[in-house]
Amino acid sequence: MTMYHVPELAPAVFAVGVKDWSRRLFDALIPLPEGTTYNAYLIKGQRHTALIDSVNPGFEEELFQRIAAAGDPTALDYLVMNHAEPDHANALPKLLEMNPRATLLTSKKGAQVVHDLFPVPADRVRPVADGDTLDLGGKRLRFIDAPMLHWPETMFTYLEEDGLLFPCDFFGAHTTYGWYADENGNTLRAAKRYYGEIMMPYAKMGARALEKISGLEIRQIAPSHGPVYRDPKEILRLYRRWTAGETEEKAVAVYVSMWGSSERFTKAIVEVLESNGIRVALYDATVADLGELAADLVDARAVVLGAPTVLNGIHPLALTAAHLVKILKPPVKYGVFVGSYGWGGGALKHVQELLGPTGIDLVGAFESRGRPTPEDMQQVLQLGERLATRIKA
Ligand code: FEO
Repeated sequence: MTMYHVPELAPAVFAVGVKDWSRRLFDALIPLPEGTTYNAYLIKGQRHTALIDSVNPGFEEELFQRIAAAGDPTALDYLVMNHAEPDHANALPKLLEMNPRATLLTSKKGAQVVHDLFPVPADRVRPVADGDTLDLGGKRLRFIDAPMLHWPETMFTYLEEDGLLFPCDFFGAHTTYGWYADENGNTLRAAKRYYGEIMMPYAKMGARALEKISGLEIRQIAPSHGPVYRDPKEILRLYRRWTAGETEEKAVAVYVSMWGSSERFTKAIVEVLESNGIRVALYDATVADLGELAADLVDARAVVLGAPTVLNGIHPLALTAAHLVKILKPPVKYGVFVGSYGWGGGALKHVQELLGPTGIDLVGAFESRGRPTPEDMQQVLQLGERLATRIKA
């Protein structure tokens, strides 16, 4: 008897990946309040057995034991690498060693980059083309090119008989709770965080991939992070919205304040927006969870940035927030900046330089010298009204 539970998603298809309950940071940047998982799937056909993806460094032994709970980790015929990043591919060299007859299948680009990352013999790697199929015996895999989600080599694998899509990072969520999405009330928020952090900069490629799989009968989606969607309608609907860049009457407000002025200005704008029926997600940059910020940027129509000038430029924490807005490429349409300075400004110029190339329309800005006067507050409130009008238009 094994201690490992390996859910059978469909006949002879097992979830054999691992949960990393205590990991708290990804890419040395992204907070993981619920840990994450490195999912792998074992498919036992009548003639051949395939493993889809593998696990992060340090979890190889647990993967082998989980495979053993459903089959034989030394009797694999095919190792499918949907994505070369080490959180999904690190066990592949060892698996190839344990399975001398196994072939590693991956996209054409994957067949190149795998050698940059892992010691894998070239004659064990076989590139697959878009639309290629592999019959395992009653289980036919179809390979679908889905590049830049979020690396150049990414692809999906579709199991035809069971309508099971294995899209690797796409549709992923950093959460350890539940094997199935409907067992975790927080799955869709975790998926939104994940989308904002990882996929949003590649929204166009995501939309293209969704279009490509739109003709498939997808009964389940089994990504490589987080739970399996045994009813994928809602996550597909959300991904269509998110990749299309649909925004809501909603703003994200981020501030950092040294003596309270930038905080007062930001919160005054929040009050105006809310009084106009606009939802606002407010973040103090000194304590903000960047994952939550990314999630709220997915469908926000405006950004409010509040920050003082420090040493002739914007406060470094606000700089990080503005830089994130720039590189995550959210569909935000409007922005305002509010702040203050002691004797010389610089923050506004800094913001204009940063956000200018993003296409975000800077509706207005206001900076006070020293503490806010009643007249300053009036100007900020008017700025808030201008922003509200744009958001609602
Ligand atoms: Fe989960 Fe791009 O690796």
